[in-house]
Amino acid sequence: MKKIFLLLLITVNILSCKKNKKTSFVNDTTHEAKIEALLSKMTLEEKIGQTNLRGVSSRATSLPTDLKESVRKGNVGAFLNIMNLEYVDELQRIAVEESPNGIPLIFGRDVIHGFKTLFPIPLGLAATWDAKIVEKSSEIAAFEASGAGIRWTFAPMLDIARDSRWGRIAESPGEDPYLATVLGAAYIKGFQGDDLSSPYRMAASAKHYIAYGAAIGGRDYNTVDISEQLLRNVYLPPFKAAIDAGSATVMSSFNEINGIPATGNEFLLKDVLRDELQFDGFVVSDWDSVIEMVAHGYASDEKHAGELAAKAGLDMEMTSQAYENHLKELIEEKKISVEELNEFVRNILRIKFRLGLFKNPHRNKEHTGNFYAKDHLKEAKKAAIESTVLLKNKNSILPISEKTNVAIIGPLANAPHEQLGTWSFDGEKEHTNTPLNAYQDTNTNFKFAKGLDYSRDTSKKGFKEAINIAKKSDVILFFGGEEAILSGEAHSRANIDLPGIQEELINELAKTGKPIVLVIMAGRPITITNIIDKTDAVLMAWHPGTMGGEALYEIINGIKSPEGRLPVSWPKTAGQLPYFYNHKNTGRPADSTNYIPMDKIPVAAWQSSLGNKSHYLDVGFTPHFPFGYGLTYTSFKYSDVSISKKDINFNEDLEVKFSITNTGKKAGKEIAQLYIQDVVGSITRPVKELKRYQHVSLKSGETKEVIFKISSKDLEFVNHKLIKVAEEGVFNLWVGPNAAQGLKTSFSIKK
Ligand code: BGC
Repeated sequence: MKKIFLLLLITVNILSCKKNKKTSFVNDTTHEAKIEALLSKMTLEEKIGQTNLRGVSSRATSLPTDLKESVRKGNVGAFLNIMNLEYVDELQRIAVEESPNGIPLIFGRDVIHGFKTLFPIPLGLAATWDAKIVEKSSEIAAFEASGAGIRWTFAPMLDIARDSRWGRIAESPGEDPYLATVLGAAYIKGFQGDDLSSPYRMAASAKHYIAYGAAIGGRDYNTVDISEQLLRNVYLPPFKAAIDAGSATVMSSFNEINGIPATGNEFLLKDVLRDELQFDGFVVSDWDSVIEMVAHGYASDEKHAGELAAKAGLDMEMTSQAYENHLKELIEEKKISVEELNEFVRNILRIKFRLGLFKNPHRNKEHTGNFYAKDHLKEAKKAAIESTVLLKNKNSILPISEKTNVAIIGPLANAPHEQLGTWSFDGEKEHTNTPLNAYQDTNTNFKFAKGLDYSRDTSKKGFKEAINIAKKSDVILFFGGEEAILSGEAHSRANIDLPGIQEELINELAKTGKPIVLVIMAGRPITITNIIDKTDAVLMAWHPGTMGGEALYEIINGIKSPEGRLPVSWPKTAGQLPYFYNHKNTGRPADSTNYIPMDKIPVAAWQSSLGNKSHYLDVGFTPHFPFGYGLTYTSFKYSDVSISKKDINFNEDLEVKFSITNTGKKAGKEIAQLYIQDVVGSITRPVKELKRYQHVSLKSGETKEVIFKISSKDLEFVNHKLIKVAEEGVFNLWVGPNAAQGLKTSFSIKK
């Protein structure tokens, strides 16, 4: 076994944070004296009040008197989902003018991928691999939402998702920890800016802490049983990045982890979050996740749930009222100390100070949020273009010319509500630009027949008309996929094919002999194994948001190129899930020389005649499309990969150089990716891990040199002793267009 180089000896510090960064508030002590002064004046009831996050239905038509009274007494710390501006103003006025210490409220909401102007769903934003557009999207979301008095968003969702059955994969940054850390920091920067007290910014909430995406079988809220190494190597890094970037709050997740619900998990909330990551904002529970510890079988009743959450260090309780109903009693019984409660209040007040709420508690009535402003729509369109992934393009059928006679068919061609995706409470379908709208706004030749009314429709009544217009056209544009409601929270699917009878309609359309361009709008990868051969091109548009129509029109007609790359491996069938590119090798890694597909197995074959490797007989061992994959309207060639040294020392930089040439006829953008493999480790290591990537725009015929620098820092992982190490030995390195292709070289780390 090779020697382990201990970079940091103390386990507690293995995830130590970078301090004093411009955007980070970690250890900013500006407000501490004021917090203490305030705390010394507060009664026990008021302190408990700060820990209450109350919800009011967005549809409420009046403010309940008892709610106003609670605010007046200082019994509420924050609200979610108050969407009536008068209510926001009135509640804040009561809090500031009439409550005992005039502590302002925070108003929160799920502003996940835009407020009014909706950007592609987060999984689509992840497909841009573009931190700048992610930052811009959250900056615009903050600007619009703050115009409605919302200064706190329950985003970004940073749960690594390796199972496309899980409905919440739509909200996730995908399957890769490196991509998620880059984008996670960008979200925080966009929501919060450099100055959280700006009235145009919002406090972010990195959620759901933690490992929510590891729910068994992709079934929402399901149990998570996970080693601490995996937790630290895969699920924790995006949260660390968000906290280093200054995330004001963190939301605890619904799930249990190895038997202890995240909301009552002292190790995760105190040891990891506070001591290691140095988080000094506040932790909010998820909706009712405190009281749900009873259903988990971890707490005996509401009071016990409150005690467990408080002991674990949870600062604010969302919607359930275990703290409100029992904290006082728990303190009297000495089960929880006043000092523990004081700490929650400090954390909450700290964020209220940073938000500038003590100086400017009231909504700035001049700031309207400029909903759907031109520049917001422009950025939303850019994001939709950058997020669209071209999966197939037989004989370069795409782009087509604007003169082509097209038949626009499919349930998502003109479904303004559906294309907004999950968590689109505030975006209005009247402002949504669908693909049909985009065609209607041009002079192009098109005919339209939905064929199916909605994605799950099983009525064939529209088939005839759809087939008729297909026959009269040169190209069929089929806009299919899933309605918005089929992904997101609690919307997991066991079968992730196109729902309803969309495949049947595509099969019928294929009989016309006309080329078919399938455009998928969905909250997750959709398995298209059954019908891909019937299509000529496939574009994955995710749920593309407000400007999806124009974005797709421009891509289809070659005004813009598709620029997205998959942030998740695309499965052939749901039975392959969970699937992720950065898996381990096993003792019997799958390989093509040893794989006999099921239909080629001789009848009565001898039991061990098939090679005994790690694969499925029916679908093999590769995904349909690998992580990082995406075609463009041109082609690229990678060449001349070289490294600055064959052996590097710890903390020495390795320079990796290579060239990319645009070998096609059109300009295009490549996303060059660098992967490594630690060949032998003190614990087994993934077959590949993304470590760097870069967007490279190239004109036809142009060549550019790309240089990446990595060091042993990039090769660190948490080992079986829970120590973060980089180890001596050989590393394979690939540069290429996705996780399955690339030029390979290798280097060693030596002491
Ligand atoms: C979700 C959170 C969300 C919260 C508030 C919960 O059901 O899990 O992601 O922020 O509701 O709406």
